[in-house]
Amino acid sequence: MGGLRSTEWYDGQDRNSYIHRAWMRRGTPDDSLDGTKPQIAIANTASDLTPCNMHLDEVAESVKQGIWEAGGVPYNLPVVSLGETVVKPTAMLWRNMAAMAMEEMFRANPVDGLVLLGGCDKTIPALLMAAASVNIPAIVVPGGPMLTGHFRGEALGCGTDVWRLSEEVRGGRITNGEFLKSEASMIRSKGHCNTMGTASTMAVVAEALGMTIPGFAGTPAPDSRLLSMSHETGRLIIELVKANRRPSDIMTKESFLNAIIAVAATGGSTNSVVHMLAIAGRLGIDLTLEDFDDAGRDVPLMVNLQPSGEFLMDDLYRAGGVLAALSQVKELFHAEPITVTGKPLVDYLTGQPVYDETVIFPREVPLMADAGIAVLRGNLAPRGAIIKPAAATAELLQHVGPAVVFDSIEDMRARLDDPDLDVTADSVLVLRGCGPRGYPGMPEVGNMPLPRKLLEQGVRDMVRISDARMSGTAYGTVILHVAPEAAAGGPLAFVRTGDIIRLDVEGRSLSFDVTDEELQERSQSAASEAAYAAPTRGWEKLYVDHVMQADTGADLDFLVGSSGDRVSRESH
Ligand code: FES
Repeated sequence: MGGLRSTEWYDGQDRNSYIHRAWMRRGTPDDSLDGTKPQIAIANTASDLTPCNMHLDEVAESVKQGIWEAGGVPYNLPVVSLGETVVKPTAMLWRNMAAMAMEEMFRANPVDGLVLLGGCDKTIPALLMAAASVNIPAIVVPGGPMLTGHFRGEALGCGTDVWRLSEEVRGGRITNGEFLKSEASMIRSKGHCNTMGTASTMAVVAEALGMTIPGFAGTPAPDSRLLSMSHETGRLIIELVKANRRPSDIMTKESFLNAIIAVAATGGSTNSVVHMLAIAGRLGIDLTLEDFDDAGRDVPLMVNLQPSGEFLMDDLYRAGGVLAALSQVKELFHAEPITVTGKPLVDYLTGQPVYDETVIFPREVPLMADAGIAVLRGNLAPRGAIIKPAAATAELLQHVGPAVVFDSIEDMRARLDDPDLDVTADSVLVLRGCGPRGYPGMPEVGNMPLPRKLLEQGVRDMVRISDARMSGTAYGTVILHVAPEAAAGGPLAFVRTGDIIRLDVEGRSLSFDVTDEELQERSQSAASEAAYAAPTRGWEKLYVDHVMQADTGADLDFLVGSSGDRVSRESH
């Protein structure tokens, strides 16, 4: 086979090709490196410190079998992995580092194709960013959600029920001891969070972008069909290499619009916004916040899954799966974008039966008529902020109330439960210093807890605003990703407690009552700047010096665009 990238290493009769071949034989058949067999890297985010991805070594074995069977040569390539619940200060700080390291390793090695094994929140985004940047044929294997755990006979939703139960403790409705007893039941099996959180959402995004075998996303991690689809992916990557079908052929502007529709129809995570913007940026695609608002507008919510609804990912699979859910809104999808199979996504959206209409709703009676992520603008968020109406309280989507401002997450924790805090159910909680630069890393703290005294009064939701993100498993009337963030000099830095804040989701506006002159005056007052200590070394310094704002995906400015798959100079 001519034209394989790996022949740049292995072709020839000279000393360097000798070195490349000799060290890579390691027991493979003699013809493995003869220039006719695609060399496939299995980018593997398995790690014992990424609990959601711990099973991916087993998955990699199935992929390997498929690659051998189809005439390729597989290589396990362990790459940077990020465990959402354990990595500090936030896995998002490391997403770009992981993507950059993956990209460089893909390019530096003799590979013709990539199989991307991801699962936990940041792993699929980082893998797709890297694959987009090298533009080598690639397919995603989503590691799959875990099975549903139960506590005292009731299903537990990963993340979502942690937030719910901890608020029950703070509100005095259950004891802390009862809360802690649920801990052992939360994670029932291998796999990632079983709600429509960020991991599930990014699997749906990968599938809607066309980057998985259609029908793969949402397959539970312990299900044997995950391994058979992984085997099939191993076979398919060889076809992709032969057809020279690259990520840029699959991930087009229209496929991103399809993914936005898919996220809305499945009640997906707000985190998908920064991840899709970053992936698109690597491909040079002009995807904007407006595209999310426009493409997601009037898309109905078709699935009854936590955090927007009731059920869990295992139920979705039982009810027909992701394709059955998307097929309910088939007419909304762009017809042209292809998948890794070479066929359009829409070809897979017919003949998908629904087995449980309490999980996947019929088109005529969706769970919600308009589930798209709304983009808000105004003098509080000149470059935009987002809200997920599907996870919010309908009555709060239009709201006017006085701000209660916290300068940092520590400030919020110190004062939130103070009985003397001047706060009512009408107040708007404002948290700043939690954006990409300010934290740094843009943590998932935007769904800040409610003040204890209001919880005890029975308050269940309030308007909250921040430059942070929110866990995909969380819910509430939470406005996120305010851009520019406070640490970048955005107006959020100059809001004061007592300022009147106006939210109008229908009108897509977010503002506070301050004149331009007053805002100018405040911006010149050093006292009103949010607390912000710039890091002085290492990745954090590189990140803070170069990270872009949330409205463009919070990637590093010098990583935008593709560097392609060029083969570098020889090392010997
Ligand atoms: Fe890994 Fe939720 S913690 S997916």
